Amino acid sequence: MIITAKGISKSYKRGKGGKGFVQVLSDTDLSIEGGKVYVIYGRSGSGKSTLMNILAGILSPSSGSVSYDGRDIYSLSDRELSALRCLSVGYIPQMHSAVGTLTVRENILLPSAVSEKPVDSARADELIDLLGLTELADVRANVLSGGELRRLSLARALVNSPSVIFADEPTNDLDDECAKLVVQTLHASAQAGAAVVIVTHELFARSDADVVLCMQNSSLVREKG
Ligand SMILES: Nc1ncnc2c1ncn2[C@@H]1O[C@H](COP(=O)(O)OP(=O)(O)OP(=O)(O)O)[C@@H](O)[C@H]1O
Ligand SMILES: [Mg+2]
Repeated sequence: MIITAKGISKSYKRGKGGKGFVQVLSDTDLSIEGGKVYVIYGRSGSGKSTLMNILAGILSPSSGSVSYDGRDIYSLSDRELSALRCLSVGYIPQMHSAVGTLTVRENILLPSAVSEKPVDSARADELIDLLGLTELADVRANVLSGGELRRLSLARALVNSPSVIFADEPTNDLDDECAKLVVQTLHASAQAGAAVVIVTHELFARSDADVVLCMQNSSLVREKG
């Protein structure tokens, strides 16, 4: 999968009565290809999550285009875009998003339930074990710690073996050992052919990445790769 973002700009309404606006991204280009790990870092509020959401097909840009293997995703119908996302995109949001009333395993299998791909329960079990969630597999998500929820979120993003993975601060709430495990797991997905984009402040993640980009002045500055 090759994802190409061209001339991406995004502004939000801000201020009393929504009359003002803030320009978060300005004419940003990025090309992402399978088999590589991309790390994006930058100051809080600089637009990293906004860019990830735009790349993942969740948020329309104010101008510019995002294409997946040459298909402009924002010209697709909602139905087509949802189908593409279900099939191809693994997304780890910055905020926790587990369904509290479902168990860890049920949460992890949720993408399988809505995707056309067959349910891969062997992959779910493999991820549960790999990410140290074995004893929590049948526990409801509403009792989990922040770090446990973070690992659940990673397993849920990877269960369908997506061809592109967006991980927005996936090591938040984690100790060093767990943070390394999470980044290693994302690298393993890249080795298996996925394009992996990670927003993170972890220095070790930057040194291991194929490409490092810094969000600065509403645009990406390429620092490595
Ligand atoms: N829906 C929205 N409406 C108005 N402003 C928004 C909206 N979403 C984000 N913003 C603003 O856009 C800017 C960029 O937000 P974004 O979440 O992309 O930053 P970030 O780089 O991910 O920050 P952090 O490191 O704190 O997660 C911030 O100033 C934020 O307040
Ligand atoms: Mg963010």
